[in-house]
Amino acid sequence: MFFSDAFLDDLRARVPIVELVSEYVQLNPKGGKYWGCCPFHSEKTPSFSVDEQKGFYYCFGCHKGGNAINFLMELERMDFPEAVTELARRAGMELPAKTAEKPENKRERELIFAANTDAARYFHNLLWEPSGRRALAYLHRRGVDDKTIRRFGLGVSAEDWQGLAVHLMDKGYKEDILLAAGLIGKKNDRVYDAFRNRLMFPIINNRDQVVGFGGRVMGEGEPKYLNTSDTPVFNKRMGVYALNIAKRARGLSTLYLVEGYMDVIALHQKGVPGAVATLGTALTKDQCRLLARFASRITVCYDGDSAGRKAALRALELLDDFDIEVRVIALPADMDPDEYIGKYGREDFLALPGLSAAQYRMLRFKDEKDMSLLEDRTKYAIESAEVLRRVENPVERENYVKQLMLDTGFSREVLLDQIKINAGRENRPKRRIIQNEKKEADFEKAEKLVLCALTMDIPPDTVRETDFVTDDARDIARMLISGRKPDAILAEIAEENRRNALAGVFAMEIKHGDSAQLTQIVLQSVATMRAANLTREIEILRERIAQTDEEEKTALLKKLMNLVEEEGRLGSMKGRVVTLEQ
Ligand code: CTP
Ligand code: MN
Repeated sequence: MFFSDAFLDDLRARVPIVELVSEYVQLNPKGGKYWGCCPFHSEKTPSFSVDEQKGFYYCFGCHKGGNAINFLMELERMDFPEAVTELARRAGMELPAKTAEKPENKRERELIFAANTDAARYFHNLLWEPSGRRALAYLHRRGVDDKTIRRFGLGVSAEDWQGLAVHLMDKGYKEDILLAAGLIGKKNDRVYDAFRNRLMFPIINNRDQVVGFGGRVMGEGEPKYLNTSDTPVFNKRMGVYALNIAKRARGLSTLYLVEGYMDVIALHQKGVPGAVATLGTALTKDQCRLLARFASRITVCYDGDSAGRKAALRALELLDDFDIEVRVIALPADMDPDEYIGKYGREDFLALPGLSAAQYRMLRFKDEKDMSLLEDRTKYAIESAEVLRRVENPVERENYVKQLMLDTGFSREVLLDQIKINAGRENRPKRRIIQNEKKEADFEKAEKLVLCALTMDIPPDTVRETDFVTDDARDIARMLISGRKPDAILAEIAEENRRNALAGVFAMEIKHGDSAQLTQIVLQSVATMRAANLTREIEILRERIAQTDEEEKTALLKKLMNLVEEEGRLGSMKGRVVTLEQ
């Protein structure tokens, strides 16, 4: 579904955010904003603010923020189209999507869903026929009972080449729809079933639509799995297997992310209903986002072999960027979840320790090391320190440091020193809490203040886009200067952490008396930003001077003097003198 900016602006304008939030949170006006207890984390004193004029919310406690659409997505776990649809319903607005999505595309998608559903029924019914006996026996042999087979809609594709094609065409489906759905192929003017003689796993999205299939050979054979190729309704990198089932699990405390369809099914049957899997590709950001909508905790439980271990480490890197608690179960080297729960049962499976990301990374560092050797222990300590640097909670970190002391024999002091090395050099995306602790450069503070001021009443021309230092800030400034409203800008930022951070900027309180005073404060910050830009220019110029011949040097030096002079002027304006020898 596509919505135009104009429609979304209109929609947000028509549903006052205070009214929407009030349905979930008791709000009280104070100091130009509304305040209540945050619905996203538990607290007793209100730190959740709603700015009616700017159209967004921000919690000063957990640092979540966004506009009305984000609020519904976050609280009701809706996806974007769902949240927009809900808001439109409240506003009594017609959805333009009905016209925005070309009717013929919509029709095609609907027909593909219908064909997929009929195909799933066909495969499932075959399982109980004589021709499906072998497949049913295979499932039974692997411990899958009839109830589970029905729950997951498992089936089998026939050995002949046209069973499904003929069945669906008899039902009235046109060839082009079946081709588009990836259910059939075509060669030399003859159509044939895409899946033959395979165990069929329908892949169903969280809206209960059959989007595609995985087909496993029974026994040995290549390829082991055939999956539906990309279609208008299916993309392996977006979907998650069994989310439709897992999301209904009662008292779901965590989703278990496993590698295989068979793992999901085994866990479910043994009484671990929160199991889901990716669709034969490594975990993607889209899948993380989807998972984060349905659970506050993910337990990664990949195969114990080296491929599974590598995949788990990669999954941790991705999940790091999402606001979701992550645990990892480290299975024995030769086992997958299916085998583990089959051998040891539910209680033992649930009793497996859920390691934090840091613990798991440290565990993996031990692979291929001989911890009785000083050299390997040293390597281990260095690698672990790298990980511990990223642990946000001091108390949690303390636990790991203690363990590391035991494992390596190094003293606490030495380990803490090692953790501190390179601490400033981190350039991977950081999470909020670290960002807050990090010492901000003056110009970064200034940028935030000026961006916030741009959402208030300041005279035009107080600041230009080019005054900003970082590309990020320039982008936001450009939108604000061109008259975009804060809630509309927040709507354009898909990445959650960035959006929260920006909401925090918009929610800043700038202490000022009258508007003249505000302008004065802003001008000081603008000076700081301009100085930072100048400093950068000067650095570049100095480098050029070092590389040029005498003649040109004179001209450049003159320019440099001018820049430095200007820098000095700005420096005094922001209360700091910049000298030539700095
Ligand atoms: N997969 C795939 N294509 C393959 C092999 C695997 O798409 N050729 C995907 C499937 O989604 C599969 C998952 O990777 O479920 C894990 O693979 P594997 O462990 O080999 O399969 P399982 O489903 O665990 O099946 P089994 O227990 O029967 O080995
Ligand atoms: Mn497996």
